[in-house]
Amino acid sequence: MLIVENKAINPLISPKPSEAKPDTELESLRIWGKHPLSGHVHISGAKNSVLAIMAGALLCPQHCRLRNVPSLADIAKMRQVLEALGVKIERHNDTLELDTSHLSTSKAPYDLVSQLRASFFVTGPLLTRLGTARVPLPGGCAIGARPVDLHVRGLQAMGAEVHIEHGIVHADIRGSGGRLKGAKIYLDYPSVGATETLLMAATLADGETIIENAAQEPEVEDLANFCRAMGAKIRGAGTNTITIVGVPNLHSVDYGIIPDRIEAGTFLVAGAITHSEISISPVIPEHLTPVIAKLKDIGSEIVLDGPNRLRIIPGELRATDIETLPYPGFPTDMQAQLMALLTLAEGNSVVTETVFENRMRHVAELVRMGADIRIKGQNAIIRGVSHLSGAPVLATDLRASAALVLAGLAAEGETLVQGLHHLDRGYDDLETKLKGLGAKVQRVSP
Ligand code: EPZ
Repeated sequence: MLIVENKAINPLISPKPSEAKPDTELESLRIWGKHPLSGHVHISGAKNSVLAIMAGALLCPQHCRLRNVPSLADIAKMRQVLEALGVKIERHNDTLELDTSHLSTSKAPYDLVSQLRASFFVTGPLLTRLGTARVPLPGGCAIGARPVDLHVRGLQAMGAEVHIEHGIVHADIRGSGGRLKGAKIYLDYPSVGATETLLMAATLADGETIIENAAQEPEVEDLANFCRAMGAKIRGAGTNTITIVGVPNLHSVDYGIIPDRIEAGTFLVAGAITHSEISISPVIPEHLTPVIAKLKDIGSEIVLDGPNRLRIIPGELRATDIETLPYPGFPTDMQAQLMALLTLAEGNSVVTETVFENRMRHVAELVRMGADIRIKGQNAIIRGVSHLSGAPVLATDLRASAALVLAGLAAEGETLVQGLHHLDRGYDDLETKLKGLGAKVQRVSP
């Protein structure tokens, strides 16, 4: 008998069809650990760039082509949100064709937005293009409350009237020629989402907008480069001060998405945790600076094997401390994966999560595999153990699922990672890529 979330579930008895959840939620990944990896793995386009850029396409009343778009559940969901707004979308392999010339509504559908937080990114573009937006509050998720107060306050500073009614954000531009007004906005926290919302809203505003204490993540810079390719006037993206001079309209574009630094970091950890030498590309090495620095502290060597190719050479695992911070600090989206690695490092490590208040849910599952971790507030104190042992574990969010897969690759025996719908949200065909490196993994359905 298997205990999942304190409920006794017999994996042999599948739930009655009416209760059946979408397949991937019930799918699991079976991993036979302790197999060395080798070879090269291709890194897909960045999820967190594509999601914002798909929303950004709403700014342009013409046609956008996006290249290097990964196949992810989140991107399929964002597509549904845009199609519900009247966008015509076609996909050809990793290229998306978006025709945004005829938007039929400024109301984003509740059921879809409630399933994908990132769909809140349509608010800024809808408001600045149409003068009005009706978007459900995204609500919290497994890793935290995740309010959107900074988005709302920034839009209000640009002259929008914004109020929340029945869980829906109502945003309108009244008077002033139907355009937002440029403004100086200081963000209390360098929020990625708020920076992206305000950057997009400012592209069509009347006048100059300055976003101070802006997020500096590479995905913010990628969004700014996409908007500039459409004719937007933007300076300073990738720094903590971004200046946008509004233009009357934007034009169509053909744009390539940057590689996913979090997927890349996850595979580097796969090499370190299985003591395997593997290479990854394409990557932009600078985007991985904080991750590479920590992997070196832990004992791995990372070499540049070409302009956009990295190779990890494993070493004995040494304990180290990690604190997550906004970019260029250590990314919170790599915290769980590095924690899985540190469970096998010689000595005591402390991992401190400062960005999200509830992003340690993978700890209990790693402990189920034999890790020695105690949580004190936002700190996880990890005592390295000699080995992990395979077990049935449950993924609770996207990066937690990646950490459990990595632990399973290093563990003795068999691990069964359940809740693969989390993994499918952000990893493009992970098991095929792992098999390509020689891992013994298999996706199993109930
Ligand atoms: C983006 O989320 C990413 N998601 C997250 O990746 C990533 O973890 C996060 O940035 C930080 O790097 C996408 O890009 C789709 P934030 P976002 O606004 O924009 C607080 C993954 O695993 N905050 O920078 O939601 C917030 O609660 C995902 O791929 C406010 O208080 O992150 C959080 O504590 C998970 N008010 C902190 O700021 C606001 O209005 C950082 O949030 C906005 C945010």
